[in-house]
Amino acid sequence: MESNQRKWWKEGVVYQIYPRSFQDTKGNGIGDIQGIIKRLDYIKSLGIDIIWLCPVYESPNDDNGYDISDYRNIMSEFGTMADFDQLLEGMHQRGLKLVMDLVVNHTSDEHFWFRESRKSRENPYRDYYHWWPAEKGIPPKRFSYFDVDGDAWKYDEQTNSYYLHYFSVKQPDLKWENPKVRREIYEMMHFWFKKGVDGFRMDVIPFISKDVSYPELPEKYNGNFVPFYANGPKLHEYLHEMNKEVLSKYDIMTVGETPGVDRDQALLFVDEDREELNMFFHFELMSLDREGDEVFWMRKDPWKLTEFKKIFSDWDETFAEKGWGSLFLSNHDNPRTVSRWGNDTSEHWYNATTMLHSFLLTMKGTPYFYYGDEIGMTNIRFDAIKDYQDINTLNRYALLKQQGMDLDTFLENEKEASRDNGRTPMQWDSSENSGFSNSRPWLKVNSNYKDGINVESQEADSNSVLNYFRKMVQVRKDHLGLVYGNYRLLLGENEEVYAYTRIMDTEKYLVLLSFSTEKTTVDISAENFGTLDLIISNDASNAHLGNGAFELQSYQACVYRFG
Ligand code: GLC
Repeated sequence: MESNQRKWWKEGVVYQIYPRSFQDTKGNGIGDIQGIIKRLDYIKSLGIDIIWLCPVYESPNDDNGYDISDYRNIMSEFGTMADFDQLLEGMHQRGLKLVMDLVVNHTSDEHFWFRESRKSRENPYRDYYHWWPAEKGIPPKRFSYFDVDGDAWKYDEQTNSYYLHYFSVKQPDLKWENPKVRREIYEMMHFWFKKGVDGFRMDVIPFISKDVSYPELPEKYNGNFVPFYANGPKLHEYLHEMNKEVLSKYDIMTVGETPGVDRDQALLFVDEDREELNMFFHFELMSLDREGDEVFWMRKDPWKLTEFKKIFSDWDETFAEKGWGSLFLSNHDNPRTVSRWGNDTSEHWYNATTMLHSFLLTMKGTPYFYYGDEIGMTNIRFDAIKDYQDINTLNRYALLKQQGMDLDTFLENEKEASRDNGRTPMQWDSSENSGFSNSRPWLKVNSNYKDGINVESQEADSNSVLNYFRKMVQVRKDHLGLVYGNYRLLLGENEEVYAYTRIMDTEKYLVLLSFSTEKTTVDISAENFGTLDLIISNDASNAHLGNGAFELQSYQACVYRFG
């Protein structure tokens, strides 16, 4: 099967919702399912085809829903199963598809399976999780993302054993090596597919397979354990089995979240003939502005456009013949798109945001937008630790404090890097709390909702970021060559302009994107474009000076058809 075979999930534009922060209708400062229902017409009006909903399952919220205590129930803060059914129906009526989050590397420690598992070594659920009997000594080192001590083994007195948790102590890892666990998970997936959901985004999916002899961590992974976690011995066996048992029975889409997976391994997941997943989110871009393997520390020198282009070009090449890519610039684990990859100063915010929209919508792969991207929401940059809610920031702060480290440097880092930057409430209008809630929101709202970064004021302005987003989505829809056309990088060494063509038979496009705060000129006359017709630009000035010479305004984007 070739990568260009037409599929709805290749042609669709995805909108990710972090339900806690989208729309509160109950007045408790927390978003809910009725809030999403209320905004479905708005989402449809953006031209979106697919919604990816972050976890809405029952959860004690140690990690905001990524710690699930019941896979078949809805978190009471968000509503009921009846609300969920209404949401799904409302989406399908509007031609929107729903992709749910599948979090099956771990459960909550409050899940029935784990409550049973920890009771005794003989409990029928014991083998649903990874346990290390303490009489064998201290288990081989494993690192944890969210543990205050960074240790992924937690001693549990009741059975004098340690359990494994790659994330917080309240997120014990499931033991996929146990066929009963896999059976339970597949049945749960059938439950949601039978309800009619249209796919899954699979949380940290490469971590599910573990070497259950729990060997010492090989030396080379000491600084960076992620690739070790992502390369368990039976990973592909399990994904293939899941595909055969569940996924292949429905017309659905799958996208894995794949930390630690590099390009050499990419096709193992998404080569159609292997029958595993459709797409995945690699982590190469998300680590571009980070310090080495330190995923949560910003690097000191700025990232370069040539590096950015190389990442996208290399991944495009990876999927040139087989598989399919996914394109994203932010999500709930990352800071805001324009603050990170563009420029959120008042002078450049408009062009930078719309340039980045133009970028994702003219690349090959399925584009994923995060709620609020369409109006150019920015990083909140909290000054004080008390404003943060994310377990990741809070626990790292506690760890550094314990070690007597410099906390000011940490707080400066979090202003750019924290996950809470991407989780502030949706900015609907200029009323109090941005129309998100009529009581105090669970996380502070960015005050720039009063300065035009809100849906209501941008609806009223035909030249707003929001209306540009709609037009740009339409441009992608109107030109199939922007979905399937071959990508070719031009001006690869240029540090200010990202230029590429997309070509499918006689459909030919040229995309020019300035990542510069200054006016820039480029000469691409060697390419012989023939006629160049401008399809869309985020700036009034026509960049083409004639004969393949262009003058771009700061952060200008231009999409031409040529031939
Ligand atoms: C994924 C999620 C993140 C969560 C973690 C543990 O990386 O995107 O939000 O904290 O997995 O489930």
